[in-house]
Amino acid sequence: MDRLVIQGGRRLHGEVVVGGAKNSVLPIMAAALLTDEELVIRRVPKLRDVLSQVRILQALGARVLHDERSGVLRIRSDDEGCVTAPYELVRTMRASICVLGPLLAKRKRARVSLPGGCVIGVRPIDLHLKGMEALGARLDVQGGYVEASAERLRGTTLFLGSSAGSTVLGTANVLMAAVLADGVTTIENAAQEPEVVDLCHLLVKMGARIEGIGSHCLLVDGVDRLRGVEHEVIPDRIEAGTFVLAGAVAGGDVTVRRCQPRHLLALIERLRAAGCEVKVGEDSLQVKAPPRVRPVDVTTLPHPGFPTDLQAQMMALLTKADGISFVHERIYPDRFIHVAELHRMGARIRKEGATAVIEGVPRLSGAPVMASDLRGSAALVLAGLAAEGETEVDRVYHIDRGYERIDERLRLLGARIERRSGGAHALAMSAAAAP
Ligand code: EPU
Repeated sequence: MDRLVIQGGRRLHGEVVVGGAKNSVLPIMAAALLTDEELVIRRVPKLRDVLSQVRILQALGARVLHDERSGVLRIRSDDEGCVTAPYELVRTMRASICVLGPLLAKRKRARVSLPGGCVIGVRPIDLHLKGMEALGARLDVQGGYVEASAERLRGTTLFLGSSAGSTVLGTANVLMAAVLADGVTTIENAAQEPEVVDLCHLLVKMGARIEGIGSHCLLVDGVDRLRGVEHEVIPDRIEAGTFVLAGAVAGGDVTVRRCQPRHLLALIERLRAAGCEVKVGEDSLQVKAPPRVRPVDVTTLPHPGFPTDLQAQMMALLTKADGISFVHERIYPDRFIHVAELHRMGARIRKEGATAVIEGVPRLSGAPVMASDLRGSAALVLAGLAAEGETEVDRVYHIDRGYERIDERLRLLGARIERRSGGAHALAMSAAAAP
């Protein structure tokens, strides 16, 4: 198990280029199951989650060619493959649930393991199932698997929402089932996240008929078949936001290139409120931060609100603010696993239900900390950049799920960060195993 060792306190300067969006590419890969022709996906990031999705598609009989150097993924699937997405693969990554819709639409049957919860919360898939049922699928949950079948899916009108608002992967899943259904499907309360929009654009290129793209109401007129196409995924707004926040946390001057600033308006607004200077270019963002930012309140919401996937990284910035900030988590009320680790670095954070009250401190101090989820680990790295002394972030495989070579790219910005093999946990394990 690798760990990242950071010598904090260095200002960051320079430019970093953002990769393709993880949360776009994963459902887009699943869309390859909707056609017999080849789907060519460009700007595919080199991430553990992409590898997991490749394995799932292969288990479903797809042929996948992944040229990691050029970031091109070629997928060809036909109806000969099996319809089971097994637990061993699905449990490593929840996005794999979005093979359900395409399998059902194209192969008429699907057997997909229930993904289960994860450290950021319970994460049910009831809305995905509700959507499939509304389209006429027969569903049965047996032995931890969703078994679904439908000779023909039929268009319908459905409301896809929970108390937390819309669902991103749920919208993607139902959309991918509806594009090959008979008649018109209306998805009310559809997610408006840029990743859903990207999937819609891909499906339209493949021959799907979708109206209302980017709005809360998607109208899908089912077609008989879809074709293979080429598609470049959108830039990763969460990766872009993480680098912008790294610049802000380290009090530097960082420019993030090849991003889509309009996907990050809520972050830009909050950073300016905190006293950072943010320059918005056509496809770039430059941030300069004062030594101590002003405290701000943040509420995570579905897009275009402040993204839950940047909540932990924003909290890392606010730990050093000059006053008290409130962070309200409206998407995943339990997504605060990073709080205890930030405490170990000297942060003062009190949790009250789904709200964190952060009393800014003048300085953080480096400490050994443990990553336990993707965005929480990014927050720990950011706190490490700002802290005095050495921070060791263990279990960095979490961060490798969603950030390509984050250590190398931060080093290019002037950070002192290095990857070492064998974390504290691995050392403890080997000590325990020693005679
Ligand atoms: N929800 C339900 N029932 C459902 C589905 C969702 O109650 O059937 C609830 C969830 O519990 C949550 C809310 O609805 O409270 C929103 O969840 P959503 O379904 O939108 O999340 P997701 O689609 O499973 C994607 C991203 C997450 C990101 C969320 C919210 C991917 C692969 N994952 O998950 O990304 O946090 O949307 O924006 O697209 C990450 O990248 O670190 C990550 C966790």
